[in-house]
Amino acid sequence: MEEFHKVRRLPPYVFEQVNRLKASARSSGADIVDLGMGNPDLPTPQAIVDKLCDVVRDPRTHRYSASRGIPGLRRAQAAYYARRFGVKLNPETQVVATLGSKEGFANMAQAITAPGDVVMCPNPTYPIHAFGFIMSGGVIRSMQAEPDDGFIPALERAVRHSIPKPLALILNYPSNPTACVASLDFYKDVVAFARKNDIIILSDLAYAEIYFDGNPPPSVLQVPGAMDVAVEFTSMSKTFSMPGWRMGFAVGNERLVAALARVKSYLDYGAFTPIQVAAAAALNSDGAEIEEVRSVYHRRRDVLVEAFGRAGWHVPPPPATMFAWAPIPEPFRPLGSLEFSKLLVEKAEVAVAPGVGFGEHGDDYVRIALVENEHRIRQAARSIKRFLATAGETLDNVIPLAARR
Ligand SMILES: Cc1ncc(COP(=O)(O)O)c(C=O)c1O
Repeated sequence: MEEFHKVRRLPPYVFEQVNRLKASARSSGADIVDLGMGNPDLPTPQAIVDKLCDVVRDPRTHRYSASRGIPGLRRAQAAYYARRFGVKLNPETQVVATLGSKEGFANMAQAITAPGDVVMCPNPTYPIHAFGFIMSGGVIRSMQAEPDDGFIPALERAVRHSIPKPLALILNYPSNPTACVASLDFYKDVVAFARKNDIIILSDLAYAEIYFDGNPPPSVLQVPGAMDVAVEFTSMSKTFSMPGWRMGFAVGNERLVAALARVKSYLDYGAFTPIQVAAAAALNSDGAEIEEVRSVYHRRRDVLVEAFGRAGWHVPPPPATMFAWAPIPEPFRPLGSLEFSKLLVEKAEVAVAPGVGFGEHGDDYVRIALVENEHRIRQAARSIKRFLATAGETLDNVIPLAARR
């Protein structure tokens, strides 16, 4: 039987291949250090868990909740934007709570896309950015992921050569997987371009609070006039180590927020009320929990860069996110990121995410997630050191083959 139209457009997850190898190595007793998936390992702060437990005892919270988010939660998100970015949001019309930012993003794509609409999307990027639109019948035009001088000329080319003219542009800074960060000046240029060409901006700011070296990333909504064209997604998953709770937000342009809220009103009844109340309490707190989460990732980042560097693998320090975007060491680069990642599981007992899983332009890289403790990151570096030191002899059949690819 032929595969369904939509399913045919969703290739098997590349990461699954590494996961399978990892599972099979573990079942034979290997101690795999898992730096593959971006799944935070830190517990949710106790005060947030306590709040959930308190609220869940009230049976009134067991009924269907509010699809757009309870008013207190939307007010808390608006207050966060005012405090953190100096951006004023109307919680009634410019904020909608989502079941994690991934759900919000995918349903926004569903809400705004007509068949064949062109959407400009970074490559490499977090898969839902492209596949949310592909599932909605859209067409992707790949864009560079780096927010550098080449970006606006690339946008101009994309608009000139796409028929129909692109509907939307996806931005994701700090980026998963590249960890690139955008400046406010960059956003100003992009917003000016989008306003002039009537293009929607969808900004994924999931890593708003996971930044290092004292440089908080800006919001696109800080640009005057951005509210006319932009909507921005944030997430509680990384900021408060709440990935399993499924809580995120879309904020910004009223028409876009209303479109998402309308679609969601048909699909869900909102997150469980105790989760929404606990999330509101987290957003209203003094930020000490956020600081703690940030400093754990900061220390892990420093250990990773230093220990991998000593092992002979020079990984540029990411300025933000919980990921390092690491160029594959030279002799292995021709293998491609999937084969190299498999080799790392089998020969070094370390799992990473192959860059190609984020798009074809990621294939010279792997993404290393800071989701194991410092001791385990050092352990990974030691076995990678052994792997790199001996690969020339033990893999003499693999490396020359790779070079001929
Ligand atoms: C860039 C980016 N956006 C969105 C998400 C999804 O976050 P959530 O848990 O809020 O759905 C992730 C998760 O890894 C991400 O990296």
